[in-house]
Amino acid sequence: MPKPIRKAVFPVAGLGTRFLPATKAMPKEMLTVVDRPLIQVVVDEAREAGIEHFIFVTGRNKAVIEDHFDKQYELESTLRKRGKSAELDLLELDLPGAGETSFTRQQEPLGLGHAVWCARQLVGNEPFAVVLPDMVMKASPGCLAQMVQVYETRNGGNIIAVEETRWEHVHRYGVVGAKDWQDNHFTINQMVEKPKREDAPSNLIISGRYILQPEIFEILDRKEAGAGGEIQITDAMKRLMDVQPFHGLKYEGTTYDCGDKVGFLAANVAHALEREDIAPAFRDELDKILQAHGGKISWT
Ligand code: G1P
Repeated sequence: MPKPIRKAVFPVAGLGTRFLPATKAMPKEMLTVVDRPLIQVVVDEAREAGIEHFIFVTGRNKAVIEDHFDKQYELESTLRKRGKSAELDLLELDLPGAGETSFTRQQEPLGLGHAVWCARQLVGNEPFAVVLPDMVMKASPGCLAQMVQVYETRNGGNIIAVEETRWEHVHRYGVVGAKDWQDNHFTINQMVEKPKREDAPSNLIISGRYILQPEIFEILDRKEAGAGGEIQITDAMKRLMDVQPFHGLKYEGTTYDCGDKVGFLAANVAHALEREDIAPAFRDELDKILQAHGGKISWT
């Protein structure tokens, strides 16, 4: 059995400029999918995959993320006094245990690779996951749990979750080349960050979930800038690919790119339509909105 994946790194230092003014005083990771902050959604996914230690690489103005993963005594005592036991249970369930979270800061915005490198002391010498909270996956089992399964099947190495995107969108993402498919996983033989459409080896994009071996930190130590002048995780992985295997998993599920307004709104609609408590009323409202805009979708 390969070494277990016990730790996950959540890079949450980004400024969220695409969501201004919402993100002027609030971290973008606290934007909600229905009533759950994006960061809670991805922490839940990581817990389901067996992660025991949640490492957040934060920046200025992100303190509220740390508060979110702490007990709120005043709130809890008020809820208790009011007999709101369902809400209390929910808060309890969402909270990682004491000592299971760590927070460190990316002091300068030097890129995703640099953010991951900032977690090196907390990760230490073991394989770990990287989870980008912008990318919300609707999958069962969750995307990271599917990746852990492939990691065990392939007896270790590095695993990247991928999905197909429209060719006109490949320039927004990291893109991989694939060979030797086995079911829905394959060997990665190329990687390029934000390629032009004509330079992309495929339309399989890196979709924000990684399982990496700790040797990635030695490469990130060199602090080489790549696409956009930033220290890119994709470039470091490409170098590591010379000496270690990288596998891609075309996971089963749907990704919503919540770094984009349309993706964020779509994530909310998709999640709301599956929530028993609100779906019927929400469908009625959606119908009304669509009718008012000259179209109506059939729910059957
Ligand atoms: C980052 C990665 C990219 C990946 C993307 C997924 O890009 O560098 O390889 O495809 O996340 O969201 P960013 O969104 O930070 O530009």
